[in-house]
Amino acid sequence: MGRAMNKNIEKEYLLKAIGAFKRRFIVISPEFKILAANCRPDGITEAEIIGKCCHELFYDRSSPCQNCAVKETIKDGKPALMPKPEDTLDMDGMPCYYAYPIYSGDDIEAFVSMDFDIPTRGGLEEKLQRTNAFLRNLIFSAVDGVIASDKRGKILIFNEAATKVFGYTIDEALNTVNVRDIYPGKNAFEVMQNLRSEDYGGKGKLSSYQVDVVSKHGEIIPISLNAAIVYENGQEAATIGFFHDLRDQLLMKAELEKTQLQLLQSEKMASLGKLAAGVAHQLNNPLGGITLFTKLILEEYDLGDGAKEDLNRILKDANRCRDTVRELLEFTRQTRHLMRPSDVNRALTRTLFLLESQTLFQNIDIVKDLDASLPPVYGDIQQLNHLFMNIILNAAQAMVGKGKLTIKSRLLSDADRVCIEISDTGPGIPEDILPHIFEPFFTTKEEGKGTGLGLSLAYRIVENHGGHIRAESKPDQGTKFLIELPLAAKDLEGD
Ligand SMILES: Nc1ncnc2c1ncn2[C@@H]1O[C@H](COP(=O)(O)OP(=O)(O)O)[C@@H](O)[C@H]1O
Ligand SMILES: [Mg+2]
Repeated sequence: MGRAMNKNIEKEYLLKAIGAFKRRFIVISPEFKILAANCRPDGITEAEIIGKCCHELFYDRSSPCQNCAVKETIKDGKPALMPKPEDTLDMDGMPCYYAYPIYSGDDIEAFVSMDFDIPTRGGLEEKLQRTNAFLRNLIFSAVDGVIASDKRGKILIFNEAATKVFGYTIDEALNTVNVRDIYPGKNAFEVMQNLRSEDYGGKGKLSSYQVDVVSKHGEIIPISLNAAIVYENGQEAATIGFFHDLRDQLLMKAELEKTQLQLLQSEKMASLGKLAAGVAHQLNNPLGGITLFTKLILEEYDLGDGAKEDLNRILKDANRCRDTVRELLEFTRQTRHLMRPSDVNRALTRTLFLLESQTLFQNIDIVKDLDASLPPVYGDIQQLNHLFMNIILNAAQAMVGKGKLTIKSRLLSDADRVCIEISDTGPGIPEDILPHIFEPFFTTKEEGKGTGLGLSLAYRIVENHGGHIRAESKPDQGTKFLIELPLAAKDLEGD
């Protein structure tokens, strides 16, 4: 009797104790249904709370919360303490969820879940724990890959961002990867050595050190690495590295350099063009004079054969000058001619037709691979003819009348441009010459054979059409010119 009485008092005290606990204290089933609770938040009655899912009732969520301590307890059957993420910056107290299982025999029957603040004011231990949790959070949410390893290279920390760089899951990295494996070749050795030298941000440190790493799938990735050796009682205990993926940055830099180079090139072309135009105009009149007066002398004077021959020579040279001047003027002409939807295949075929009959082309094998369904480009057909003429002539000249000329046209995969490829089996263009071929007056041909204006004109024409031209060549492997031209807008189609 007395024992039963005591039991009741004990129970009452237990209930009182739970009631006196000012924060949420609930017992829930493994399905997260509330079986008992000490809290009546906002006047909710018992009928409304019992049997409800805790995450639905308290957080309006359809599934358990991310930081749910009960979830942790379900995993391993052990009590769990989880910080509440929303309050993590409060340094005086760490709001937590705490959960522990209630066993019935070997099975878990229910869970206790309670909320409370771990008071950290003054409590060194808790403060440390609090800081640890904060740091852990910091590392795991860092933008850069963070990897820490012990002296033998076993990985201790591998954060979310590191999984993105290296392709390993966190589990894989912690259990199967040695930190040396993330570097190709001798890089691991070099990193370790430089880490211990004075030269890269001080002994035991590496600062913005550029190094290649290798991903799980063998991809080489350029990295800017900040790393440090962690010492404990003067002994090396671990190393920690922050891996910043440089791929995007390097790509952007290359892109920028390319644009700069293109800008420089077109600037150079423009100023040379103006100069050339000036020179051409200045030459035109005196050239006309030379031709006219030479002809007059030839007609009006009774000259000996020698003198006639000399004068004819003057005429011939003057004509050559006139041709150069004409090309120059063509080159510098800024006005757009007749821009309209034009058929690239037709321009190519026409140009070939004109050239084929010339002796230079007699032993040249011409291969045409033209995409018959090519949409029109927006362009001036005469300029396009001129463009192709210059490139095809160069090819034939390079092959010295013998070889294979291949002409291809196709739609580029992104479908707003046409690509024309003109390749030859000539001697190719040496590497040091290749950057200059589009410059006005640049020629490797002997005097009288080349003006050096053909390709600069080609460049100007392509530029006028909003396109790109480039040459690919290696000595002894022939040359390929690639021309990209934008398509005519849909509403302009059909000329
Ligand atoms: N298909 C080619 N194969 C080899 N070299 C070429 C080819 N096309 C152009 N070149 C080089 O580019 C230079 C410039 O060409 P271009 O501007 O047409 O002037 P030109 O033909 O009057 O020399 C040529 O002198 C030659 O060295
Ligand atoms: Mg030429």
